[in-house]
Amino acid sequence: MPYVIDHPLAAHALTHLRDKTTAPATFRTLCYQVGLLLALEATRDLPTQPKSIETPLEKIDSPVLGQGLVVVPILRAGLGMLQPYTDLFPSVSVGYVGLERDHETAVAHSYYCKLPPLDGRRVLCVDPMLATGGSASQALRVLRENGAQDLRLVTIVSAPEGVAAIEKDHPDVPVITAAVDRELNNQSYIVPGLGDFGDRLYGT
Ligand code: PRP
Ligand code: URA
Repeated sequence: MPYVIDHPLAAHALTHLRDKTTAPATFRTLCYQVGLLLALEATRDLPTQPKSIETPLEKIDSPVLGQGLVVVPILRAGLGMLQPYTDLFPSVSVGYVGLERDHETAVAHSYYCKLPPLDGRRVLCVDPMLATGGSASQALRVLRENGAQDLRLVTIVSAPEGVAAIEKDHPDVPVITAAVDRELNNQSYIVPGLGDFGDRLYGT
């Protein structure tokens, strides 16, 4: 089962993301807000290492973040979820996987891939929409083939069909999301959903 974040700010932002009258500039801000809450949840158990410091009063060993975080947005809509990570985590590495669904078949094809070293690091694959699960499943497979072991998928809206696909194809990958919606329609759009995330994010 996916982990669904439970926060009133996430619920509020999601309502306005779903609202078809929300314009792209506001949509991007709301995407940042939900993305930030999701980022905090997805990194809750990130490893730390002790650092020796001196407070004004004494010497202590105190935890700092290690070098171990990689975030991989699935282009293009995943880019809307990237900034919380670069704002919060000073040493995050960013990889990119470009996938686009065919409008007729809903099958995603790959057009770009650029990844940093993944082995031994927490890898967060981020994409706002988990519909059939085809795109995310393909991206997770590519990340695995490139050495990722500690993998998570972070989404904003998920369909039960997409969740089931990830559970089947990648049973060891936790899914962190802001909502699990009712179903897919016959064009493989999530309902109630919020429409085409990439189009709404970039005003296309
Ligand atoms: C959207 C979304 C996911 C994918 C989800 O991207 O951002 O990547 O669809 O659908 P799936 O679970 O059925 O694969 P899209 O292919 O529309 O490309 P875009 O981000 O460039 O708009
Ligand atoms: N991609 C989107 O952007 N929206 C959906 O509902 C499904 C896939």
